[in-house]
Amino acid sequence: MRLLVTGGAGFIGANFVHATVRDRADVAVTVLDSLTYAGSRESLTPVEADIRLVEGDITDAGLVGKLVAESDAVVHFAAETHVDNALADPEPFVRSNVLGTFTILEAVRQHGAGTPIRLHHVSTDEVYGDLPLDDPARFTESSPYNPSSPYSSTKAAADMLVRAWVRSYRVAATISNCSNNYGPYQHVEKFIPRQITNILTGRRPKLYGTGANVRDWIHVDDHNAAVWRILTDGAHGRTYLIGADGERDNLSVLRAILRLMGCGPDEFDHVTDRAGHDLRYAIDPTPLRDELGWRPRHTDFDAGLRATIDWYRTHEAWWRPIKDAVEATYAEREQ
Ligand SMILES: NC(=O)c1ccc[n+]([C@@H]2O[C@H](COP(=O)([O-])OP(=O)(O)OC[C@H]3O[C@@H](n4cnc5c(N)ncnc54)[C@H](O)[C@@H]3O)[C@@H](O)[C@H]2O)c1
Repeated sequence: MRLLVTGGAGFIGANFVHATVRDRADVAVTVLDSLTYAGSRESLTPVEADIRLVEGDITDAGLVGKLVAESDAVVHFAAETHVDNALADPEPFVRSNVLGTFTILEAVRQHGAGTPIRLHHVSTDEVYGDLPLDDPARFTESSPYNPSSPYSSTKAAADMLVRAWVRSYRVAATISNCSNNYGPYQHVEKFIPRQITNILTGRRPKLYGTGANVRDWIHVDDHNAAVWRILTDGAHGRTYLIGADGERDNLSVLRAILRLMGCGPDEFDHVTDRAGHDLRYAIDPTPLRDELGWRPRHTDFDAGLRATIDWYRTHEAWWRPIKDAVEATYAEREQ
């Protein structure tokens, strides 16, 4: 299989490329990534001899068309992803997430007219908005779209484009909406790496508001195993929700990090809450389990967190150069 991976130099995409090179000798991987501040060539260094990395933008129709024409399948991770950045400047989110997905869909439609080119679009559970804290309900494939932030609204728009291209042009696409990922190679602006690297650099961890907001955590390798399962066995046109029954409030996650890193439970600062901060996300992954037989392997959150902490400890050269600038930006936003 000739596989095009967009956003393969980002957090989830890089882990996906690593796993693909390790486990699937029959797959030739091309990564298309514009190496924004969130993308890192170094994330692909361990597999650089095994893949082709093309530095380019998913809104570049000529380049995307050429690469899609050479591919049997496309896994589309590339996006602007950080909610705080979207609140500060939404324009790149509209461009990359909406126009970028449109550009990929058009290339898949045109070049897959004879032999269909398989497309898997990677999305987020944030398209469904949030759930009340005191309600056991979880998101399902039929939950109404109700995005809250500029980030989630652009991901929702991209999902709608994919659905329309399936219906109107019979593009052979699937969609997955996954909960919050953790693991190695995640940018230090994100919640878990930020706290770990704060402690490693002698800063106090930062918690938005009271920390009551609930996220449904999944290890990035479990997410990527589900993406592969959907790519190979998923029904065209279907949406699958990916989650690992990992609901935890932010304060509990922070306290677990503090405990595993030998700090006291209150050694952190409260900072200004994120505007419009979603209360709770929770995924019902039953169809993925029942129909495609997927199961998460990283079910021990403490063990996964410990391994992630170890990764940041041993890969300081990967994150240290960007850490000060990220904290300076947060300081300007008083977060
Ligand atoms: N991180 C999560 O918890 C999570 C959960 C569910 C879904 N997702 C989705 O998974 C995907 C990957 O997320 P991530 O956390 O790895 O993101 P990330 O920010 O770490 O990486 C995004 C990658 O996309 C690249 N990119 C951005 N705009 C581009 C453009 N215009 N052209 C080419 N490349 C571009 C960046 O350079 C970067 O390498 C996204 O689509 C995101 O919406 C993420």
